Amino acid sequence: MSAQPEKPNLEDLALVPMGTEHLDEVMEIERLSFPTPWSRGAYQREILDNSYARYIVALLGGRVVGYAGMWVLMDEAHVTNIAVHPDYRHLGIGERILRELIRRAYAAGADKMTLEVRVSNVVAQNLYKKLGFAFRGIRRGYYTDTHEDAMIMWRNGLGEDKNLAQEGRAES
Ligand SMILES: CC(C)(COP(=O)(O)OP(=O)(O)OC[C@H]1O[C@@H](n2cnc3c(N)ncnc32)[C@H](O)[C@@H]1OP(=O)(O)O)[C@@H](O)C(=O)NCCC(=O)NCCS
Repeated sequence: MSAQPEKPNLEDLALVPMGTEHLDEVMEIERLSFPTPWSRGAYQREILDNSYARYIVALLGGRVVGYAGMWVLMDEAHVTNIAVHPDYRHLGIGERILRELIRRAYAAGADKMTLEVRVSNVVAQNLYKKLGFAFRGIRRGYYTDTHEDAMIMWRNGLGEDKNLAQEGRAES
């Protein structure tokens, strides 16, 4: 287990597009966060070849402490994943990352955002509810590793946050 970091100053958090130079650290967080992690090749394809995909990393002092991604298709954004390094959880970083994803989705023309989350993943559900996502349905056995059901959540009106409306739809 790595040493617990000092409580970081989130003013130092930088949220930038994911590049191949981040993938070693992304893969470490991915393995620590998910029972069936995505492969490095999957991330490479997403960031290099998929024109609908937008991925960001959160950097603290140059270290990747979290990341998230989505596909933006017309006016809908679909979150593919979000994770924070276990040593940096419950400090507000996941919320910052998701707010930035929403900002970028809106800037790219999306008005609504959706995601799936394991029914057992109450921590992530709390984060999504905090940022305005609401339960809209269940996909039975969605997760092929454990056959667990997925909750489908949606957030409408991405531009309704005051700060987003002020920033407008300049290029993301
Ligand atoms: C879900 C995850 C990204 C949250 O990141 P985080 O940086 O720890 O979250 P934050 O500190 O920004 O917390 C934001 C909100 O999430 C919820 N939350 C975070 N940690 C929680 C915990 N331990 N218990 C309950 N709710 C929690 C709370 O609503 C919190 O708001 P609050 O602090 O005002 O109560 C992180 O736990 C993670 O990486 N989990 C593993 C990967 C994963 O499950 N991803 C989601 C897949 S759908």
